[in-house]
Amino acid sequence: MRILLLTHAFNSLTQRLGAELQKRGHEISIEFDIADSVAEEAVALFKPDLIVAPYLRRAIPESIWKQNVCLIVHPGIIGDRGPSALDWAIQAGEGEWGVTVLQAEAEMDAGPIWASAMFPLRAAKKSSIYRNEVTQAATTAVLQAVEHYAAGDFAPTPLAACSDARGCLGPLMKQADRAIDWQRDDTATVLRKINAADGFPGVADNLFGEACHVFDAWPEAVLRGAADSKPGDLLARRETAVLRKTRDGALWIGHAKRTGEFKLPATLAFAAESVALPEAPLADWWRVDRETWQDIAYEESRSDENAVGFLHFEFYNGAMSTSQCERLRAALAWAKQRPVQVLVLMGGADFWSNGIHLNVIEAASLGDGSPADESWNNINAMNDLARELIETGGQITIAALAGNAGAGGCFLARAADLVWAREGAILNPHYKNMGNLYGSEYWTYLLPRRVGDEGARTIMRNRQPLTAQRAAETGFTDACLAGDALAFRIDVARRAAEISASPDLAEQLAAKRERRAQDEAAKPLAAYREEELAHMRRNFYGFDPSYHVARHHFVRKSLASWTPRHLARHRDLGWKVPQ
Ligand code: COA
Repeated sequence: MRILLLTHAFNSLTQRLGAELQKRGHEISIEFDIADSVAEEAVALFKPDLIVAPYLRRAIPESIWKQNVCLIVHPGIIGDRGPSALDWAIQAGEGEWGVTVLQAEAEMDAGPIWASAMFPLRAAKKSSIYRNEVTQAATTAVLQAVEHYAAGDFAPTPLAACSDARGCLGPLMKQADRAIDWQRDDTATVLRKINAADGFPGVADNLFGEACHVFDAWPEAVLRGAADSKPGDLLARRETAVLRKTRDGALWIGHAKRTGEFKLPATLAFAAESVALPEAPLADWWRVDRETWQDIAYEESRSDENAVGFLHFEFYNGAMSTSQCERLRAALAWAKQRPVQVLVLMGGADFWSNGIHLNVIEAASLGDGSPADESWNNINAMNDLARELIETGGQITIAALAGNAGAGGCFLARAADLVWAREGAILNPHYKNMGNLYGSEYWTYLLPRRVGDEGARTIMRNRQPLTAQRAAETGFTDACLAGDALAFRIDVARRAAEISASPDLAEQLAAKRERRAQDEAAKPLAAYREEELAHMRRNFYGFDPSYHVARHHFVRKSLASWTPRHLARHRDLGWKVPQ
């Protein structure tokens, strides 16, 4: 079938659905929901058999849903309606939630139901639930609904006839519904409120007496501040987060957005103010065995022989600033000294890495800094980290992608000997979408070795997301592992232990060192870096401002005014509906 994806943005759910439908032989084109007339034009050009709306912020116009079957993905259980479905479910502490695929009709979210899927609702950030459970359930339900539609004889169930409709119409959740009362709310309540608002819109609150929106909260089990500290007081800082006292404990706030600005690490959003807070550093890189905020954490499997090292880096949204790259490089260099022969880089739960930190770079423009200089520092820190990984001679290194990776983050992963991705992960191993960036992270060395010169050109040119399965088929990754996040962690640990126990490990390591030495003799890493950075220097400092403009809009979440041509196939020159 020809399926048009009508969506507010090409977010990870839309990317996943597009790739899954394509894999099943459907012809996919994408149109952003910019205006009724634009959507109507897309339908007229593409003449879809079916329209799927994975992520919309407003209703589909009647002119479209009256003429075409439009399937809406609603992140709520059957019967649930309204724009804040997940927010209400998380804030209420529901134990189970779901996704419903329903047909667009006059009343929003109230059309007949084509499919639905349920999941246990974790106590976690809304953005994390959306990228994991919702995306998985939506994929299951949409594929089922598309099969029903293709069968031709399926009658969707009107909402009124659904015996299992538990949901109801919920209003837009307002900031008044999210407000934190620091005197009365306990830690669990504050956490739930901030989780329900992450990554958008955040909870309107204040820090250092300044109005802002807060995001990214983590419980703290031990630190409580001085005896005379009161609920709501800021107690300490650690790297990018600040610790705030609650009625019955304390929690860390990782990110904040000041009025009129954009989301930043809390200690950068309030750079001048937070230096006055006492530091609460962790002793070293070892994973702390209690609830706290720890962005870089190392642990080892318990078996003394054949132990495996696991390095976790839980950077918000997978973005890696200059100082985060430097700290991670220090942690990696330290881990390489441990008596382990297999080292697994686990990344974070939702993202492995999305490359340089565009928000922190953009923040340079708020003061008297230079975003070009900060971009340059950040890419060099990324490159130093990638080189540390490439030059690991004493261990087999594995990048284990439980979550998505994008741009430089994909090539940082490829700097490991092996890359294993979880089945649900989406990879975007290309740079051009960010204002035509050339990219670095030694991709010109790493990518052709895996997929050949032509394969590398295709990946870079197509600028399309890859499912984990497709990434393994193309050779970009080494394996696609089935299962949810927990199953993935178990499988990764088992496979890494097998490698560590393999009788020929010493030969494998020797062969790896030999290969690296040969590659270095043929063309040194420094030469690849210099060539890539010559392009990046032009991107950052040259006369073409595309990268700076793209970053500005990305960070400030500017609304799209057209659909990129590589997504809207129906707008290709010479596009004709196949007969
Ligand atoms: N720097 C800062 N923030 C980033 C980021 C980066 N490199 N990559 C993603 N983010 C943020 C987004 O702004 C968004 O923030 P929010 O929580 O405030 O909404 C969040 O991460 C999730 O991103 P989103 O685009 O919604 O995720 P996705 O999974 O749908 O899409 C990507 C993933 C990788 C396609 C997309 O995020 C992207 O294009 N990122 C930029 C990658 C890049 O160009 N890096 C620089 C070159 S190395």
